[in-house]
This record gives sequence, structure tokens and C-alpha cells, in this order.
Amino acid sequence: MDDHVTLTYQGKSYRLPVIVGTENERGIDILRLRTDTGFITLDPGFANTGACLSSITYMDGEKGILRYRGIPVEELAENSTFKETAYLLINGRLPSEDELRRFSIMLNDHSLVHEDMKTFYQNFPRASHPMGILSSMVNALRSFYPELQATEEEINFTVTRLLAKVRTMAAMSYKISRGHTVVYPRPDLAYSENFLNMMFNTPVKPYEFVREVVRALEVFWILHADHEQNCSTTAVRVVGSGRVNLYAAISAGMSALWGPLHGGANQAVIEMLSEIHRMDGDYRKAIERAKDKADPFRLMGFGHRVYKTYDPRAKIMKRMCDDLLKKLQINDPLLDIAKALEETAMNDAFFRENNLYPNVDFYSGIVLRAIGIPTNMFTVMFAIGRLPGWIAQWKESMDDPQWRISRPRQIYIGPTETHYVPMAERPRS
Ligand code: CMC
Repeated sequence: MDDHVTLTYQGKSYRLPVIVGTENERGIDILRLRTDTGFITLDPGFANTGACLSSITYMDGEKGILRYRGIPVEELAENSTFKETAYLLINGRLPSEDELRRFSIMLNDHSLVHEDMKTFYQNFPRASHPMGILSSMVNALRSFYPELQATEEEINFTVTRLLAKVRTMAAMSYKISRGHTVVYPRPDLAYSENFLNMMFNTPVKPYEFVREVVRALEVFWILHADHEQNCSTTAVRVVGSGRVNLYAAISAGMSALWGPLHGGANQAVIEMLSEIHRMDGDYRKAIERAKDKADPFRLMGFGHRVYKTYDPRAKIMKRMCDDLLKKLQINDPLLDIAKALEETAMNDAFFRENNLYPNVDFYSGIVLRAIGIPTNMFTVMFAIGRLPGWIAQWKESMDDPQWRISRPRQIYIGPTETHYVPMAERPRS
């Protein structure tokens, strides 16, 4: 069927093809718009722009749906592991038992980091933020591991190695920042256990695994594993489109994730809740400030570009937060503040009218605190979780038959042609 829209301007009509996705999402194909009409489109923040066709993740922001390769995130959070979900995202389908076993072996075999990299870590100033360290170190990986990307097998090897190393590098940055001895990965431990052991084991106190903590970490990572064309994923695709190496593209994604409006929100939420706690728990002031248009303050962990209903990840996270704190017998005053704040905001006309609901970051920080993760490592935890998504999106973009370097246009609003004035002729002040 010739499905199209017609654009009419000054008596002339142009036909623009309509593209329909498998879930009936519709888009107008403007590939030939400028050539045929001389027009470009203007869409700051790309709120209405589809940058690619993708078969990785589906989101419906009105219904609160999130699926990886067609599988609802709720089912993955209930039944899958982070490793299996990573395989699913990167390879497009769930692995067989044998494929998963081989994937695990590869992750274990490549989890060590070149010893020379430790020197870099040790030379970052103590106050460095772990996200800055991690993104720099991931970029530096290119110097240690030259990229071989001729065959599918080599690409799979490179991306699996990256998955294995980032987990080690993240734990290493924490240990070094505390001045502790680095704990090496252990091949007998599963992905999350290995990370917890590298983070918290010390020569004087071996880390004791608690089943619920390990599972909470797995679920945290599964919930963060992909989220289609968000800010950091777009950074990975845009930077990757210049055909830089994989490490540089992923490092760009990490830098984008760091921002408090994106992945940095999990840290910002805890800082906001802690501040409210310090101010005698008066969360209503924060709500009033968020509503005040003259005040740039926003409720961290609220609102989303796509979700106009409760973020499905936040629902799972909230439930998990309750269960975990109960199991660990932790009484975190920040959870009480978060719940009271959510309830009040949800009954407030401003939040309802603007469709502002808690997002994944609202409760995730409390879960991470309960696990023992320090606040400045929260966004690093998000980055480890998002890595399979970035990799899958990067791979997809490399194979895209419509691939072109990312290069948006603009509407210029500066001065029209003007001429250079020598210094002596310019006004004095
Ligand atoms: N608190 C108060 N007002 C808000 C908030 C908030 N958290 N979020 C949006 N608004 C208001 C905003 O001021 C605007 O009002 P108006 O139209 O009157 O100017 C309206 O709601 C629409 O917001 P927007 O900024 O146009 O929406 P956006 O899609 O550009 O931004 C967002 C999305 C997530 C950046 C934004 O909601 C925000 O800043 N939230 C707080 C930071 C946060 O929690 N980020 C984590 C997002 S989820 C994790 C991830 O995947 O990145």
C-alpha cells in the first residue's frame, strides 16, 4: 500500500512516505525532504525525530511498556539473569544452554584488566568522580587492545571482552579510590557475585553473599540494560557513526550518562532526599520548589521524555526496594521520605497534568545504598547495566544499510554577512 502524507506549501504538494513499525508506530520519512522541497525540520532535543529503524527495544510511553527483543522487562526481571539479558540484547535472541555457557566462559576469561592500567587509576586525583575515571579508562582500552573487527566472530569477541572488563574496571576504581588493595575477578563466581566480591572483599573481612542482595543487583542491571534511543545511546550511535572504535563510542555514551538529567539522576535523587532529611524531612518544600517556574529546581527521579505514565522499571524497583530493606532489616529514613514525597506529588495537580511520575532512578538509589554501593558509584552501576544496550545499538548501527554519518542541520539565526573591522576602528569600550 502506498501510505504517505502530503505536505502542501504555497500551492505545491509533496508526498512523504509513512513508515510503520511492527508495533504500529508511525513515522514520516523525510529523507528526501530537503532535496525535494528545500526545507529541513526543526526539532530541538529530537523529541519527535526517529533517528533509526531498530529491532532491539520497544517502549510505549503511554501504556508503560518496555520490552527487550519483544520480551517484557517484567518477565526478564522475574526469570532472567543479567548475563542472559545481555546476550539477548546483543545477539537478538535468548541463548541456548550451551551458548550461555560459552558466553560465561568468555566473560570470565577476559575479566582481567591489563596491569599497566592500574598506573592510570592510581594517578587520578582522589576526589575524581568514578564516572570520569571509568569513561576515560574505557577510552584508554583502545590503546591496550587493538580492535579487530573484520568478522562477526571478532566483533563478538571484542564486545564480550568489553563487557567483562568494564565490570572489573568499575570495581577497581572504587577500591583504588579508597586506597584498598584491588580484588581480582574469580572464575568460580557468577557475574554479579564477582562484582560484589571485587567491590567489598577485603583481606580482613571476606565478603559474605546474601542471595537477595545478589538478586537485587541482577534485577537492577536487567532494568537498566537498554532503553532505546535515550541520550547516552544516541551519543554512542552519533559518535560511532563517524566510525570511531567501539571503546571511544562507549566512552562517549558513559560521558552522556553522567548528567543528572540522565543516569546521574540516581545520585541526584539520594542527594535530594538526604538534603530533605537534613531539613527535618520537609519534602513539601521540594515539591513547591519543583512547581515554581522561577526556580530551576526539579524533582530528581521524576518525569521522563517517553513515559507519560508510571515507568515500568520504577514499579519493579520500588517493590524490590521494599523487599530488600525488609530482608536486610534496614530502616532507611530516605525510603520513608521518598514514599511520602511520591504520594504527595501523585495527588498534586501540577504533577498529574504534566504526567510526571517516578522514573527508574527514584527508588534505585535506595536499593544501591542497601547493597552498600557508595553514592558516587551509582551512575557507574547504571553504566554497567546499560553496557549491553549500548553494544547492541552500536552493532545494529554498524550493520544498518541506511547508515550515514550523524550530521544534523540547523536554522541559522546569527548576523547576516558583516565585515572585519580593524582594532583601531572599533569602539573603545
Ligand atoms: N520536576 C519538576 N518539573 C518537571 C520535572 C521534574 N522532575 N520534569 C519535567 N518537569 C516539567 C518541566 O518543567 C516542563 O514544564 P513546562 O512545560 O511548564 O516547561 C514539563 O514538565 C515537561 O518537561 P520537559 O523538561 O520538557 O521534559 P523532557 O522530556 O525534556 O525532560 C527529563 C525529561 C527526564 C529530563 C525531565 O523530566 C527531568 O529533568 N527529570 C528530572 C531528572 C531525572 O529524573 N532524570 C532521569 C530520567 S530516567 C533515567 C534515564 O533513562 O535517563
